[in-house]
Amino acid sequence: MRDFDEHNITQAVIERFAGTPDARLKRIMTSLVSHLHDFIRDVEPSFAEWEAAIGFLTRTGQICDDKRQEFILLSDTLGASMLVDAINHRLPEGATETTVLGPFFVQNAPKFENGADVSAGLPGELLFVEARIAAADGTPLAGAVVDVWQSDDDGFYDVQRADLSHAALRGQFRADGEGRIFFRTIQPAAYPIPYDGPVGDMLKATNRHPWRPAHVHFMISAPGYETLVTHVFAAGDEYLDSDAVFGVKNSLIREFTHEAPGRLPDGTETSAPWRHLTYDFGLKPLAERQAA
Ligand code: BEZ
Ligand code: FE
Repeated sequence: MRDFDEHNITQAVIERFAGTPDARLKRIMTSLVSHLHDFIRDVEPSFAEWEAAIGFLTRTGQICDDKRQEFILLSDTLGASMLVDAINHRLPEGATETTVLGPFFVQNAPKFENGADVSAGLPGELLFVEARIAAADGTPLAGAVVDVWQSDDDGFYDVQRADLSHAALRGQFRADGEGRIFFRTIQPAAYPIPYDGPVGDMLKATNRHPWRPAHVHFMISAPGYETLVTHVFAAGDEYLDSDAVFGVKNSLIREFTHEAPGRLPDGTETSAPWRHLTYDFGLKPLAERQAA
């Protein structure tokens, strides 16, 4: 076939994928071409605009390395990450809601015993975290593996700080016989997502801010259950309703309560005021086919 025009080219491209052996790939390519062409017909880009779009995607790729993943940031800021998350997490009653993983998770974080201090001496307001890990039906999950990570008092993760050569404000715990973990840390601060690249240019050009409300990340796994990737957000944060990556859910917001100096929940004493966060997590059982 020849003589393609704006009316027949979409069907012609779709037909070019007719011989795709993998049925799922065929469906994806067909839908991609159909939506991409509809988008182009909708906005009718000039050549200059199309070139600018290609330039934006080129810069997005060029800034990526093993530490910086600008395409994920683009997906996050367009709400695509949270849409994929929502589609893949239609949860039963009692299961904790999920949210974005983000770029600051690190594999093989230091392992800690319950009661440890993960702050590595960084300054900030003492925060005592107590969490209970259970199945969605309430059964405690002894031995669940819980990764935690968070920003510091200035809104930076350890991996963003050139002055830190060791892990801080992250670690891995194992739930005790009653499914509990507890640890000391510092109150996390709200922070801007990295905005010195093409995604930042997009935010600036569209008058959007880059801020995320203060939160603590949790990744929780236990045999027979879907790994839970989520955060707990600090109630009252000014960015809860305008999170740059659309990650906030009401069920994930908690008061990080203000407490007077005295005894911490683990029986130790503190002479300074402190904050207290408690959260009960519920994990979704794997579908039987996956669990087997
Ligand atoms: C984070 O919470 O660490 C995060 C999530 C998405 C984009 C940037 C940061
Ligand atoms: Fe974060």
